[in-house]
Amino acid sequence: SLPKKVTIIEVGPRDGLQNEKQLVATEDKLQFIEGLQQAGVEEMELTSFVSPKWVPQMADSKEIVAGTKKMGRQFVLTPNERGIQSALEAGSDALAVFVGVSDSFNKKNINKSTAESMEALKPLIHKLKEDGIFVRACISTAFYCPFEGAVKPEDTIRLCRQFVDWGVDELSVADTIGMANPAESYHLFKQLKEAFPTTLITAHFHDTRKMALANIFAALQTGVDRFDTSAGGLGGCPFAPGATGNVATEDVVNMLHRMDIETGIDLDLLSKAIEKIESHVSNPINTGIYTLYKNR
Ligand code: HMG
Ligand code: MG
Repeated sequence: SLPKKVTIIEVGPRDGLQNEKQLVATEDKLQFIEGLQQAGVEEMELTSFVSPKWVPQMADSKEIVAGTKKMGRQFVLTPNERGIQSALEAGSDALAVFVGVSDSFNKKNINKSTAESMEALKPLIHKLKEDGIFVRACISTAFYCPFEGAVKPEDTIRLCRQFVDWGVDELSVADTIGMANPAESYHLFKQLKEAFPTTLITAHFHDTRKMALANIFAALQTGVDRFDTSAGGLGGCPFAPGATGNVATEDVVNMLHRMDIETGIDLDLLSKAIEKIESHVSNPINTGIYTLYKNR
């Protein structure tokens, strides 16, 4: 049976804005975040503490954390010790680390092989867990890699198992370039739910090939009740050629509500939040549900 309630992890302020060609002003990002909070979003990726040379759009991470009202669980992405240190100094208590299953993608994204990334992360995660920090591990290229093609589910599961052994609280498993199909989504998430029954399992779909909603429905059937989504469907990793936006929060919330599954998110207020960011971004905003609600 399907879950009665689903948790939406809004990744718009991070995944959504990191791929923007033009810089979005800190104040405009904060307005967007506030709008999302007002719409009922309880878990959100606020920003990332990464090298501003690599991702200039996230250079204001400190100001974003400082300017955001504390409410629910607020993640920041951190790739290394320096990022973790800065995030903790900024007052974050929920950190997301990220690594790709495929080496070629990981090198393009973090300048390390997957094994090198894992070796560096192990003591850092150990320390974070000792200090009581919530740790989410984001697993990129869990289905397909833009450079290597299909990724074996066994390889994804092996990487997830290392993180689970190190005590992470959550695995966010990503279809980075939006290539997975619903049969693959069902197959992988079924195995992950069975293998890691006490770890939070979250699905992160990009919608490049318009299969994200179907992939979510497939994952729901395996018991997954946490989904990363981005308001307006913005998003994409700058180091994953061909990746477009994340599945749109409003599309997912609408589908779930139509299925009598609760999310706690108000679609009228969500469309107000999207309106706040719409004029500040150059990537296309997902229309559909947003247009319906905006014009009510
Ligand atoms: P590097 O060049 O190998 O490392 O980059 P470095 O140590 O030589 O650092 C380069 C410069 O950045 C240095 O500055 C460092 O001090 C600085 P310089 O001395 O040249 O002036 N630096 C930092 N500055 C601020 N915060 C930091 C930091 N670290 C170093 N934390 C590095 C390695 C990991 C830093 C780089 O590759 C990087 O920042 N990568 C981030 C890439 C990224 O953000 N990708 C998008 C997020 S992941 C994603 O979108 C996927 C996801 O959505 C799931 C999915 O869909 O698949 C999560
Ligand atoms: Mg992503």
